Amino acid sequence: MRFLSTSITALATLVALVVASSSKRAGTIDAPTAGTSISTGSSIPFGYGAANWCHNGYSPITIWLSGTVPTALNATGGLPEGTYIEYYGNYLEDNFNIGPLPPVPPTSLTIPDISSYPTGSNLFLSVVEEALPGTCPGGVSQPAQYEFTSVSLMVV
Ligand SMILES: *[C@@H]1O[C@H](CO)[C@@H](O)[C@H](O)[C@H]1NC(C)=O
Repeated sequence: MRFLSTSITALATLVALVVASSSKRAGTIDAPTAGTSISTGSSIPFGYGAANWCHNGYSPITIWLSGTVPTALNATGGLPEGTYIEYYGNYLEDNFNIGPLPPVPPTSLTIPDISSYPTGSNLFLSVVEEALPGTCPGGVSQPAQYEFTSVSLMVV
């Protein structure tokens, strides 16, 4: 048993390291920029450049608004229930200008009711990028892979 629990601890450490280092390959949120002012009902620009670490034609993304910076995703690449304010949906990024494939990412996002957040506080817009199962070099048996990146927004 001791061996087993040591192995599990080692495995957990390894997983933590993989999660921490692999997030560096996340894409870039081109818009909004950090510190963008937001209020209930306001519209902010949206633009994302996929990291596309598996070199796919299209990259599925999801967009989220939350009150704290996400630290982890659940098994299906979502922000865990109760940790986000708004889910803006899933879209397909066209990585090589092949031609848009619906659902095309929005160019703007509407801020929901954030009246319970004080002026001057920060909310966070996050994009989760997925590499679909079996689409990465290495084989058809590979599970889906997820990365995410966040930008802070300022409540005014
Ligand atoms: C992951 O999170 C999303 C959003 O909270 C949720 O819809 C989905 O069911 C979750 N998946 C799992 C496996 O818990």
